[in-house]
Amino acid sequence: MPQTTPEWDCQEVEWWDANAEHIERIWGLSQPLCVGVRQRYIEDIRGIFLRLKEVKPLRILEIACGSGWPGRILASSELRVTGVDFSEMQIQIARLKAAEIGQTNCDYVQMDINGMNESFQSGQFDGAFIHCGIHHLSTPELVEFSELLGRSPRGFPVILVEPVYLDQKHLLGSLLGKAINALFYLLAFCSFAGFPADETVRKTTQRLADLATDKGWFFSPKEVPFDTDEIRSLFSPYFEIMEITPVTYFGLRAAQYAATLRDEDRASRAALRIIPLLNFVDRLLIKTKLLPTTTRDYLFCRIVLMRS
Ligand SMILES: C[S@@+](CC[C@H](N)C(=O)[O-])C[C@H]1O[C@@H](n2cnc3c(N)ncnc32)[C@H](O)[C@@H]1O
Repeated sequence: MPQTTPEWDCQEVEWWDANAEHIERIWGLSQPLCVGVRQRYIEDIRGIFLRLKEVKPLRILEIACGSGWPGRILASSELRVTGVDFSEMQIQIARLKAAEIGQTNCDYVQMDINGMNESFQSGQFDGAFIHCGIHHLSTPELVEFSELLGRSPRGFPVILVEPVYLDQKHLLGSLLGKAINALFYLLAFCSFAGFPADETVRKTTQRLADLATDKGWFFSPKEVPFDTDEIRSLFSPYFEIMEITPVTYFGLRAAQYAATLRDEDRASRAALRIIPLLNFVDRLLIKTKLLPTTTRDYLFCRIVLMRS
């Protein structure tokens, strides 16, 4: 994991400001793709928050909200979201998107994670949600952040979705993984035949990948996926770790591929024909606990913490 220096911190925020729109396209995804892949697991997270805390409406702080799509799916009549992010550009996109769809149960504030001292002590929030945010912090920042979260009151829930290497080697699992991968490529080949790549998206992604290779970054300057031991050592001093479980894999891969194609609307429609099947495969592999044995990739995992 990177150590922090003021230069790296500046590079990270500059990188996010400069690439906000591109990241929105390939990571945030268009509304139909984003909802197609993520609605169900985000709604599961809403269900967990509502079960863990009885207050209504729940006030959830969404940390490192980016363009805000996770909180917009999470929010409901029973749960309000306040999103914070240090990138002004990301916050602008988040406000714009919420206004576009007339969503009134989300608001946004530009703020650095480690400047949120008050938020955990003042009782303004009933829980915190982080979607793919803190794997962009350096080791000292992570330690500081877990201490900050540790100032929350007993029973305060924190739910994260972060990339984690679960690393469970298993011969049968890896054979199963190869078979499902082959099926995935076959489906993708049939669904996206005749869809040319969007050259601007391809070139920008390539430029960012080359930059990362040159600089020794994973992708953005401070990004590094976790492993489970890191999660445990960071949070177990303050929190009961209730679960670390994957939420999506093949479904997201198909959606992200579709986002790199030229005719975005047609590509989305083609992707949405196979995404329900891939989501089903993901859920089956997650339920049977086989997903981590089928791939050496990191997996986006739901991490449920309860302040002890
Ligand atoms: C991978 S994006 C995730 C955005 C959104 N949560 C999502 O899942 O699409 C990581 C976000 O973390 C934000 N971020 C990184 N370091 C931060 C910090 N120190 N304080 C606040 N936000 C930060 C970036 O600006 C970026 O929007």
